[in-house]
Amino acid sequence: NNYALIMAGGIGSRFWPVSRTTYPKQFLDVLGTGKSLIQNTFERFKKILPVENIYILTNENYFDLVKEQLPELTDNQIIGEPIMRNTAPCIAYGCYKINQIDKDAQIVVAPSDHLILETENFINSINQALLASKAHNCLITLGIKPSRPDTGYGYIQYANETIEENLHKVKTFTEKPNLEIAETFLASGDFLWNSGIFIWSVGAIIEALDNHLPDMSEIFRDGKNQYNSPAEKDFIQSAFQRCPSISIDYGIMEKADNVFVMPSEFGWSDLGTWTSVYELADKDYVGNAVINSEKVMMYNSSNCMVNVPSDKLVILQDLHDFIIVESNNTLMICPRDKEQHVKQVVADVKQKF
Ligand code: GDD
Ligand code: MG
Repeated sequence: NNYALIMAGGIGSRFWPVSRTTYPKQFLDVLGTGKSLIQNTFERFKKILPVENIYILTNENYFDLVKEQLPELTDNQIIGEPIMRNTAPCIAYGCYKINQIDKDAQIVVAPSDHLILETENFINSINQALLASKAHNCLITLGIKPSRPDTGYGYIQYANETIEENLHKVKTFTEKPNLEIAETFLASGDFLWNSGIFIWSVGAIIEALDNHLPDMSEIFRDGKNQYNSPAEKDFIQSAFQRCPSISIDYGIMEKADNVFVMPSEFGWSDLGTWTSVYELADKDYVGNAVINSEKVMMYNSSNCMVNVPSDKLVILQDLHDFIIVESNNTLMICPRDKEQHVKQVVADVKQKF
């Protein structure tokens, strides 16, 4: 059977100041579609597999928020984590839990906070990948043609060799390279971005965990008698305490040698940064995008994005390639190409205030 694990425990810190720890990006309606990103993600998966096979992995603190936004889910489909340990532990937990229910499960692991414009194409890619993951003992990721040397993504170098149509062997997987390296990757032409959407059989991911994160694998394997029982909560509390904080990309995808990539096109955007919102937004003839803002005056300014929802009058003079965002009493003004720095800013703000 097919299952979806939707990851919704991140705090979207690069999307600050709009995305906050108490209300991260996946719960926001970033582009004004009438639904939050997680609601749109859930709707897409409902078209692929039975609702009862969709699980949300999230921090305990967001349990009520998930319940409120996705009322169709039962409580046991919302898997709460006691502490943030990045994506490897939550994926290990989710996959071992599914293994307890169904040893032949095929699993799609997906972020909750992406934009996908072409649902039909997305469904087709997932369906092909689910079949392929059943046929071959491999880890599949959906790859996206890169359009800029973004340092916020994983980069996948793929071989011409395929095991079936459009499914390429991965030569190298490099998570979040620096700018210089990202530029080389982009220029070489045989790299794709990792979409962060993974497809595998439960057996293949457990094998990869055993090989590359053996301690973590053992921690969650030990839970087999606790899962789906009243003892689960206590067990998980201590299990997460013992896990290092590591993403699946660093922990497994960079290391495993049975990774395959399916080049995919479905109008994808990880709305992870203001730049990606800027790229999708309507712009005037000099490249300025004004979102959610009432009163903006610009003089000799270009390629800026203004998102100031309060009733402030915003005036730009001779400003080029800047992001100006206001939310929750915070105003951020930052060159578009320095945006990756926002993560550090958020950490500093937390320490200072
Ligand atoms: N449950 C849970 N627990 N979810 C988490 C946690 C956690 O501790 N940390 C992050 N998530 C969720 C986020 O909410 C998001 O939906 C997803 O997992 C991915 O985490 P991000 O923090 O957004 O990762 P990233 O964007 O830096 O990088 C990943 O995605 C890129 C594409 O968007 C990597 O997979 C990159 O290789 C990839 O290119
Ligand atoms: Mg992300």
